[in-house]
Amino acid sequence: MGRVAAAGAVLVALVALGAPPAAGAELSAVFQEMVKSECHFINGTDRVKFVKRFIYNREQYVHFDSDVGLYMGDTPYGEKVARYWNSDPEWMAYRRDAVDRHCRHNYELSTPFLVERRVPPSVSISLVPSSSQPSPGLLLCSVMDFYPAEIQVKWFQGQQELSEHVVATDVVPNGDWTYQLLVLLDTPLHHGVSYTCQVEHISLEQRLSRHWDPPDILLDATRSKMLTGIGGFLLGFVFLALGFGFYLCKKGSWSSPNTGFPEGSPEMVFLACPPCQELKNRSCPPHAHGFLEEASPFNHGVKDPAK
Ligand SMILES: *[C@@H]1O[C@H](CO)[C@@H](O)[C@H](O)[C@H]1NC(C)=O
Repeated sequence: MGRVAAAGAVLVALVALGAPPAAGAELSAVFQEMVKSECHFINGTDRVKFVKRFIYNREQYVHFDSDVGLYMGDTPYGEKVARYWNSDPEWMAYRRDAVDRHCRHNYELSTPFLVERRVPPSVSISLVPSSSQPSPGLLLCSVMDFYPAEIQVKWFQGQQELSEHVVATDVVPNGDWTYQLLVLLDTPLHHGVSYTCQVEHISLEQRLSRHWDPPDILLDATRSKMLTGIGGFLLGFVFLALGFGFYLCKKGSWSSPNTGFPEGSPEMVFLACPPCQELKNRSCPPHAHGFLEEASPFNHGVKDPAK
């Protein structure tokens, strides 16, 4: 395993001074001294760094770094302290030995449950509504409760990896020695294509894949859009044919001075050439005069410009 940083034991000493508070009474002041011991394991126990920090009221004032082998002051007071501690060779030998005595020793002890801890992720895909993408929305790959934190998650459309439209959270520690990660696929979804969330993790013998196929709803939506399109086209075509028919009719040999309407007015066209007649004959019948009489009942409600 690569880099295990700061997985060492942490020693915390808290000292609150001042008058012991009576029940319910406010503290007059709080003074806090904190000491932290950190073990940094770089490539197992191959390279180990020991750091000890001394903090007073949230301010680090002196620390020991095994890479340096000395205490170093972080404040003027800390510098005095460092000089004092560094001047004691026996004490310093003991401190420098901490990488072995404390860090490497604890590493071996905790290896079975800490270094070798493996928890495989549970992976699921869900569809989330989105304002940035059209229906049905975005695909979310939830990679939950795995350990250690190192993980690789990829989205595929069919066989092709989609790396450009992927948005991921940081790897989030759950606080119980597991992590989680959410990876969103921010691209329009196409039907007829399978989507795959693929996870690689040290706990898995082989890659874990979850597939998602566009559901029937998406298919139905596409189909209904298609039907709407076809319907619209047919309707448009019918009107076009009708209009063209009327146009031919108007343009034809027919003229009538005795309809009471000016030639070419909509009323006249309507009376002269009902669609059925027009479509049957492909042009206006030559006997349009006679036809006009029969069709006159259609004229009810049509304004008669002669009156
Ligand atoms: C990691 O440590 C091993 C010995 O524990 C060593 O053989 C290997 O070269 C080290 N790898 C790196 C990258 O330092």
